Amino acid sequence: MNHNNILFRRDRDTILFDDVNLRNIETKFGTPTYLFSADQIRRNIKFLREKMLEYNPQTSIAYSMKNNIIPEICTIIADEVDYFETTSMLEQKIVEKIILEKKKNIHIVSTNIYKPDGLIKEVIEYPNISSSEINSAKCHSFLAIDSYHDLKNIVKAAQRLGVKPKVLIRVNPGIKMDIEETIFASANISAKCAVVISNIKPIIKASNDPTIKIWLPERQFKPEFDTAERLVKEANESEHLDLVGLHCHLGSQITNIEYFDRFFEVVTRFFKIMNEEINDKMKILDLGGGYPVDYAHCECVPTIEDISKSLSKNIKNSGINPEIIIESGRFITANSGLLLSKITITKENSDGHKIAVLDLSTYSDLLDVLTAQWSYNYSLINELPDSDQKATWRLVGGTNDTLDQLTPRIVKCSNCKEQIIEKKEITFPRELVIGDIIAVKSVGAYTTCFNSNYCGRSKPLIVLKDSTSKQQILRIR
Ligand SMILES: Cc1ncc(COP(=O)(O)O)c(C=O)c1O
Repeated sequence: MNHNNILFRRDRDTILFDDVNLRNIETKFGTPTYLFSADQIRRNIKFLREKMLEYNPQTSIAYSMKNNIIPEICTIIADEVDYFETTSMLEQKIVEKIILEKKKNIHIVSTNIYKPDGLIKEVIEYPNISSSEINSAKCHSFLAIDSYHDLKNIVKAAQRLGVKPKVLIRVNPGIKMDIEETIFASANISAKCAVVISNIKPIIKASNDPTIKIWLPERQFKPEFDTAERLVKEANESEHLDLVGLHCHLGSQITNIEYFDRFFEVVTRFFKIMNEEINDKMKILDLGGGYPVDYAHCECVPTIEDISKSLSKNIKNSGINPEIIIESGRFITANSGLLLSKITITKENSDGHKIAVLDLSTYSDLLDVLTAQWSYNYSLINELPDSDQKATWRLVGGTNDTLDQLTPRIVKCSNCKEQIIEKKEITFPRELVIGDIIAVKSVGAYTTCFNSNYCGRSKPLIVLKDSTSKQQILRIR
């Protein structure tokens, strides 16, 4: 389902986003301004939960905070989910404030590759803060151990505090992933996070599918300490740790369903194999995030339903029955936010291209355009013509920097593999003029966290539309 279709509606010569007239937002707040819909965030979570639960009844949804830590947005999300995935002290403090204000239990999964001592302490002590202030029920906190040295740091902190923290071992299944098509791949052999499953023979043996070998490349080098098998055993045997499960993460915006399928197969089989060695000690399987969003370039992203079915199939095939946690960020926030920007200058260059200069910058407002060659969907929202004349324009950011351009370059779809779109211009329904307003769609994930003051620019305002609040349109930054 493409949520964007229901979100945007034309009304005479403008566009409504979730029933908000975008011209009114521009008039009232100026540009560049992000507009978020709280209602869409709620709809996304409801959709994700329903589709996951339909095939996997023991699933809890965690919100992966790193993609958007605006406190007002986290507060809305806190009403809808049971867990937050945190990676830093600031994220931790935001959750703590929310649970105390709301008097609602939220569990924590702390996942960062490096966890400073202060953060480890904060996470270990989190259940105390929450239970004393909220009610007799306890919030839980889990530390996802990322490496051998991370385990040692957590053991030291646990010893000092005299508390046995609940831990998950963050496992890298080391599957074959084409980095070109999955720029944020996190489950391939060279990934920087997690500890790799070193012995793949038992998984290959347990699988009924001979093609699994193609997906599980031989490990050329076997680390002495940083393997998933070693960490599971060390954590299990440690008198300072309470091993409760595994953690893993395929990557972000993974658009190939086969990756999900093989990832689920390998981690569920590994869960079973390790649990047989440690008396079924592990009860939780946290599968991380990565649930993809339909951005501008391709309609081929796997649906949550397909992903959920694949998970259910693999859980059954592996014969396990864990509590499942999924940590979603992008799917929850991306299409709930847009960025309004004004055309400040138009110009032509000698190769005949028409250039429209926006009052935003990719560096500070849409960083993924640069780091991940992201292409968003750009729509004109004012004085829309009745008939489509079609005019093509290059859109660029408002700094002198050469890379500061919004126009998509190369887009490769992992599902219809041959299709490589190389586009330098964007088509609009009429010629653009100075003062026109462009909406950049589906920018709710990751963008606001990267906002900076590059070139002395101010950070864009952030406005929230929430139909459940008294003041339906609220400026939050
Ligand atoms: C451990 C972990 N969980 C969850 C996520 C969220 O991924 P997404 O925003 O694609 O859902 C990330 C993102 O990188 C991650 O590293």
